[in-house]
Amino acid sequence: MDVIGSTKSCNEIDAQALAVAVFKDEKPSSGVLKQLDAASGGMISEAIESEEFKGKQGDTAYFQVSSKGLKARRILLVGCGDRDGYRAAQITQMAGTATRVLRGKNVKTMAIVPRAEGDAEKIAQTVAVGAVMGLFEPDKYRTKDKEDREIKSLTAVIEGAEKKSVERGAERGRIIGESTNFTRDLANEPGAWMTPTIMADRAKQVAKQFGLTFDVLDQKQMEKLGMGSLLGVARGSDEPPKMIVLKYEPSRFKRSKGELLALVGKGITFDSGGISLKPGENMELMKYDMTGAATVIGTMRAIAQLKPSIPVLGVAPCSENLPSGKATKPGDVLRAMTGKTIEVINTDAEGRLVLADAIAYAKKLGATKIIDMATLTGAVSIALGDVNTAILGTDQELIDGVIAAGREVGEKFWQLPLDEEYTKQIKSDIADIRNVGGKKAGTITAAAFLKEFAEETPWAHLDIAGTAWGDPATAYRSKGPTGIAVRTLIEFIERSARAN
Ligand code: BES
Ligand code: ZN
Ligand code: ZN
Repeated sequence: MDVIGSTKSCNEIDAQALAVAVFKDEKPSSGVLKQLDAASGGMISEAIESEEFKGKQGDTAYFQVSSKGLKARRILLVGCGDRDGYRAAQITQMAGTATRVLRGKNVKTMAIVPRAEGDAEKIAQTVAVGAVMGLFEPDKYRTKDKEDREIKSLTAVIEGAEKKSVERGAERGRIIGESTNFTRDLANEPGAWMTPTIMADRAKQVAKQFGLTFDVLDQKQMEKLGMGSLLGVARGSDEPPKMIVLKYEPSRFKRSKGELLALVGKGITFDSGGISLKPGENMELMKYDMTGAATVIGTMRAIAQLKPSIPVLGVAPCSENLPSGKATKPGDVLRAMTGKTIEVINTDAEGRLVLADAIAYAKKLGATKIIDMATLTGAVSIALGDVNTAILGTDQELIDGVIAAGREVGEKFWQLPLDEEYTKQIKSDIADIRNVGGKKAGTITAAAFLKEFAEETPWAHLDIAGTAWGDPATAYRSKGPTGIAVRTLIEFIERSARAN
């Protein structure tokens, strides 16, 4: 899809359909709404007066119009709720709803009029992100009833703004939206078609296409480095594990004081639980247990194109977690790369085991700040549902930075505590630590485990298990992988670069 920014007025926009934001109980008495109401022979007033459309968030009304004053022949009103609460999340949802509804009407060229106030570049970017993300469908392997209608061109309209800014915003939004959909596409793939080897191939392709440094550690190299924790997870599987490493380095290298931010993402391409086998119900969803790794690759894909002025490292430890005669058993002890020994109580707590060696490896590669993301615990859904992503860590500035970046793009994070006391729960009788901390505070004890490997390096951890998969579909988003945190991480990196 072509994504364009325009500063023209609505009647000059050359697209089949116009989607316009309308606020709760708003009357078409001025501005764009008045203009469109006149052009449609009063259809907008009529829809509002008859209470067919009230501007509630998610409401839509669709008209076919024929007017000399307007190039478009179709108008879609998209309800956005209260004007006061109209921010990035609502603009994104408005744009997603607009593209999904209009694709359903077989529209090929469309424009979105967000009617937001503020930074025109940011608004155009947000519209483009929402529109591109709205079109994602998980039905890749359907041969019938597949969504094959296509919007060919999308224009974000901010009348009267600076043309360059709106165009730049639309282009940046396209990059961010497509990179988020890239992550969603990886997460959606069946385990058989997204093995650690295939993930590494996909990461290599991204690196080649957009200009990132790529490296991958194979099993032999991991053995040499002593990554016994990750290898303990991979042992039950016939598919070899891979540690993917991507690096972005700015060409106009501003001296960044030796700082290196690393993103580390859990890449379990299928989590059966291993010997501590999971129950069958919903096990098919465990194909998305590599979403953390996919988030790293998707974010790096965008960063390579947006070119911020700071370097970024991406590390993705990838493995399957399967039972077999060779698999790690509960009670076994693993030796991590740092030398720490781990008693495996439950082989289903494997995410923290692969992350332990990946975090240590990121530090070895020079990381001075680490953000990891993982579908780590079922407990996080119990605590926060699918609304907030849990964030924990050792560096409050880093945590606050991620939360603030999330707020800017409309993704919610909620900090959980990580007091020293929780570490007691992962003490082992026979080794340094154990990989589970009992029933209480499961999300926190998982983070307490990771903290043992981040040590003194400023670190934040995102538990995306509750937010990485959306069910059911909404007006603005398909069911399935959500791409959570990609946008936030991109925003965080760009902010860090600006502050540098
Ligand atoms: N991948 C799962 C966590 C998960 C659960 C992600 C549901 C998405 C949806 C993780 O590896 C796991 O199994 N964690 C266990 C830990 C327990 C054994 C301490 C869990 O949460 O039950
Ligand atoms: Zn597991
Ligand atoms: Zn897992």
